[in-house]
Amino acid sequence: MKRFNIALMGLLMGMANLASAQTVTSPNGKIAVKFSLTGNGVPTYEMTYKGKEVVKPSHLGLELAKDKHASKGMDETSLMDGFQTTNTKTTTFDETWKPVWGETSTIRNHYNELEVDLNQPSSKRDIIIRFRVYDDGMGLRYEFPEQKELNYFVIKEEHTQFAMAGDHTAWWLPGDYDTQEQETQESKLSEIRSRFHDAVNWSNSSVGVFSETGVQTSLQMKSNDGLYINIHEAACENYATMHLNLDDKNMVFESWLTPDATGLKGFMQTPCTTPWRTVMVSDDARDMLASNLILNLNEPCKIEDTSWIHPTKYCGVWWEMIAGGKSWAYTDDFNSVKLGQTDYAHAKPNGHHPANTANVKKYIDFAAANGLDQVLVEGWNIGWEDWFGHWKQDVFDFVTPYPDFDIKALNEYAHSKGVKLMMHHETSSSALNYERHLEDALNLMNKYGYDAVKTGYVGDIIPRGDHHYSQSMNNHYMHVIKEAAKHHIMVNAHEATRPTGLCRTYPNMVGNESARGTEYEAFGGSDPNHTVILPFTRLQGGPMDYTPGILETQLSTWCSNKSWVHTTLVGQLALYLTMYSPLQMAADLPENYQKYNDAFQFIKDVAVDWDDSRYLEAEPARYITVARKAKGTNNWFIGGKTGLAAHTSNIKLDFLDKGRKYEATIYADAKDADYEKNPKAYTITKRNVKKGDVLKLQEARGGGFAISIKAL
Ligand code: NOJ
Ligand code: CA
Repeated sequence: MKRFNIALMGLLMGMANLASAQTVTSPNGKIAVKFSLTGNGVPTYEMTYKGKEVVKPSHLGLELAKDKHASKGMDETSLMDGFQTTNTKTTTFDETWKPVWGETSTIRNHYNELEVDLNQPSSKRDIIIRFRVYDDGMGLRYEFPEQKELNYFVIKEEHTQFAMAGDHTAWWLPGDYDTQEQETQESKLSEIRSRFHDAVNWSNSSVGVFSETGVQTSLQMKSNDGLYINIHEAACENYATMHLNLDDKNMVFESWLTPDATGLKGFMQTPCTTPWRTVMVSDDARDMLASNLILNLNEPCKIEDTSWIHPTKYCGVWWEMIAGGKSWAYTDDFNSVKLGQTDYAHAKPNGHHPANTANVKKYIDFAAANGLDQVLVEGWNIGWEDWFGHWKQDVFDFVTPYPDFDIKALNEYAHSKGVKLMMHHETSSSALNYERHLEDALNLMNKYGYDAVKTGYVGDIIPRGDHHYSQSMNNHYMHVIKEAAKHHIMVNAHEATRPTGLCRTYPNMVGNESARGTEYEAFGGSDPNHTVILPFTRLQGGPMDYTPGILETQLSTWCSNKSWVHTTLVGQLALYLTMYSPLQMAADLPENYQKYNDAFQFIKDVAVDWDDSRYLEAEPARYITVARKAKGTNNWFIGGKTGLAAHTSNIKLDFLDKGRKYEATIYADAKDADYEKNPKAYTITKRNVKKGDVLKLQEARGGGFAISIKAL
């Protein structure tokens, strides 16, 4: 009898669940997302594109940890099954908004939404799962309304699945709680396990590798039948960064959140939501790059007056340290120097500290002469003698300059030439120390007229045991963004968590590193395919401060570094277009730009803010070609970048205005150029062009091209 009842109950529940299946399609009808409760009331979704499976039936849910802090004390429970659908709602949304800066001057946010209201009778808890389906993908998130039985709660793990329909090719980084600076791996999903160990950057990684099939997002994939699929997240605020753990027998990814120092993954209070979990899909790779899905899933701008936020081109006292072996520190007396205990005025200068007044003046002159807006100066402040490696709490105070850096005079000098200095705050990952000094640091910036800061999080996090991508650290990064906004300061955070489109809401977040940047070209180099995968992966969430423009690709010509840049010289120019960012550095030394003055002209000319962008050619980790229209002008710039293989681009100029005449300046790899053997062979040609003309360009191995098209 008992057995019969259970069977009957299962049948009845199954029938109820069948009735609760709901499908929502994209505005153009090509993408369909179906939600149902399966088995014992398990929230389940699946997704198709033009009728092809993109995500096979996949479970949704979370496990909650035992929590003595919850209102009534809470045992370990789950929000995984036993649900009933109490209501569903479908709506449509269509608006066009204007980003403060961006690849286009307007962005359309058009989706169909399905809201599923669920109740778990056993716990008397309600949750909502919301789906938004766009023409280029979908987002889903969990929402926790305020309610008696769910007030404070702690997340043990989120179990959002993404069941893949095949053994796709994937471009992945090993899942790690503390670094994203590895080389991207290209392999079948089934090969991740065997490749994992070699992919981990053990020197950077602390204890953060959680599985041999764990990967980071944004994860770009390509199916055998030509579908481009990308999994990422949007609006990750007050929540831990998501990784994906692969069940490589069944090809099912499941979310794996970054823990904090307690080992737990999220401290929540209703009403609250998770970030959006996103799946983008198309049979055309260009759609992956042109997509605004991540930005659209973020909240509109919360900063009322944005007039002080501006795209910025900058140079800096940087490459001579990173590549050239010069020092951030003022003295080499590393053993005796402790913050606050050393009278730097009497310390012996090491003689190779480029953040000094005379050298910074040289950079200011260089910026002023070449139309660059700002000069970053690293190593201006005391503390660098003992900043890293000792998990030390009090390192920098962010306000005291070294004796050879005249902060007042230098800012005045810069301003007199129409240039600003850019602040640098390396926190050495002592977030605690940074938060204590933040207000003073921001006030100092206001006092001297800085409006942008590059921050950094090298080393292990303090509070000790915490991780770079945990909920608490994600809150720290956003705290800095919000405090900086109050002081009208733009922020470019290095080593912070990978972005998830929050720059729509807080557009003073003008850049992030959060991936392997150009600095690695000074540490042995990066794979030539690196920059033609990053736009598909890292850049989905927001711009990267990649710091391109190293025209002297052979470092040994000016210093003892044996590393060399793994692109052609012209390939470096192309990055100003293909690696979209409102913050672009001209990262090489002034004397190297002097040496390649004719090619440097492109860096001077190229815009950093755009009215329009057209992705003309794209294939992950192979090549990218993009044309962009400079903001408020009729001028266009086109960049093409190829990876390891040479590539021929045929560019049809059908985006130019009919009847208008233009002059194109074309920076191309010379016929015999090659990133390894002959990187600095290039040609510069000028010709008149008009709408409909076709330009044929050869890109060398590791090369590219850059074109500026001026309306006459
Ligand atoms: C790592 C950053 O990526 C780099 O740009 C910076 O110069 C160093 N940390 C020092 O802060
Ligand atoms: Ca870095």
